[in-house]
Amino acid sequence: MTARGWHPGSWRDMPIRQVPEYPDQAKLAEAEARLAQWPPLVFAGEARRLKAALAKAGQGQAFVLQGGDCAESFSDFTANIIRDTFRVLLQMAVVLTFGGGTPVVKLGRMAGQFAKPRSSDVETKDGVTLPSYRGDIVNGPDFTAAARIPDPARMEFAYMQSAGTLNLLRAFATGGYADLHQVHRWNLGFVERSPLASRYQDLAARIDETLGFMQACGMSDLPQVRETDFYTSHESLLLGYEQALTRVDSTTGDHYACSAHFLWIGDRTRQPDGAHVEFLRGVKNPIGLKVGPTSDPDDLVRLTELLNPENEMGRLTLISRMGADKIEAKLPPLLRAVKRAGRNVVWLSDPMHGNTTSVGAYKTRPFDAILTEVRRFFDAHAAEGTQPGGVHVEMTGQEVTECLGGAHRLSEADLALRYQTFCDPRLNAEQSLELAFLIAEELKARRIAAPALPARAAE
Ligand code: PEP
Ligand code: CO
Repeated sequence: MTARGWHPGSWRDMPIRQVPEYPDQAKLAEAEARLAQWPPLVFAGEARRLKAALAKAGQGQAFVLQGGDCAESFSDFTANIIRDTFRVLLQMAVVLTFGGGTPVVKLGRMAGQFAKPRSSDVETKDGVTLPSYRGDIVNGPDFTAAARIPDPARMEFAYMQSAGTLNLLRAFATGGYADLHQVHRWNLGFVERSPLASRYQDLAARIDETLGFMQACGMSDLPQVRETDFYTSHESLLLGYEQALTRVDSTTGDHYACSAHFLWIGDRTRQPDGAHVEFLRGVKNPIGLKVGPTSDPDDLVRLTELLNPENEMGRLTLISRMGADKIEAKLPPLLRAVKRAGRNVVWLSDPMHGNTTSVGAYKTRPFDAILTEVRRFFDAHAAEGTQPGGVHVEMTGQEVTECLGGAHRLSEADLALRYQTFCDPRLNAEQSLELAFLIAEELKARRIAAPALPARAAE
């Protein structure tokens, strides 16, 4: 059933933030019209499957791992870069599944994470002021007037790149690469000299032993061992693009955003009467909402009602991004309000976006603050009797030097070595794995301390 007053373009009548100023509106309309004819990138049935998997996480029976670049870029479109991010997500998932004893829902910030909200519409360097870079789907990162002009043709390139990335991810997920028998072979070069290498190899050996046992019992060919489910997600920011890729599902008659399985609303565009909330309230995908330190408990409850009127578990994921120093004060009142209102949601921790600092010209994030925020997220849920459903991280499979600390104690002086992000600083492969080990320990400890909550019936 279509939400009251909603249609794929109803967001156009609402106040909107973070809109690029396209100089040629006719060219924009033509590009959107072409996109509206192109095939969907994902199918409604896949989005429904993800929703069911997320519902399990909301009930404490699974854990969500959402991760990838802050901003994908047109210049990083290679098989190796895609494979490396996918591989680290798989490795993290194995650590969480085996170490933490929980099924893991794998959700990439991949195959479409191109549009970026900015704190300022302009950027000034050496006395020159230009429009801000808004992600490769809008304009170019180079600091030149020409690159910063929003160009609608970029939406079509972004669609093509998303299709290519998704094709490779599907092949990796089901074509043998993700087979658990390969867990040893997923290259660990990046942690060779690190204590994590032996921890990971230990875990891989235990998995091998388990698979050997399963083989002996005649269970070695289960699809759960040979393949994995991998889903895609990005911020639903560039609404003209999202509208153009919205389709009616022929089996249910419902509208689905078909640019990715899961879309979320960013912290800067979550106004209840704004365009971004309007667009996502009407599509049936599982959706997310970033919840930052300025979120008010009553507003949040109202948003959960607007975005999930049927109170369906798995439909709405709230992604807390408070900062290590604010989470203890800000998160518990929100957890309480949502729980008191009986709203079914999945809670994730994004320990990245509230912990950004600057060192000279570099934006960075201290690994310790990231770990602290995740621990405090778990603590807050334990205190309130709610479920910590997963994490949302900015990471890459590359050996970048963007976040401080971790096993190799990356220092401020190291940032310049391989600082490659187009937007926010990402965990590198080793820091990502280290985070996964830490979360696995938390999950294990809490699993022993408290059994999963019973499922709450939809109201
Ligand atoms: C992001 O996820 O890259 C982002 C911009 O996050 P937020 O909306 O939470 O600031
Ligand atoms: Co970011």
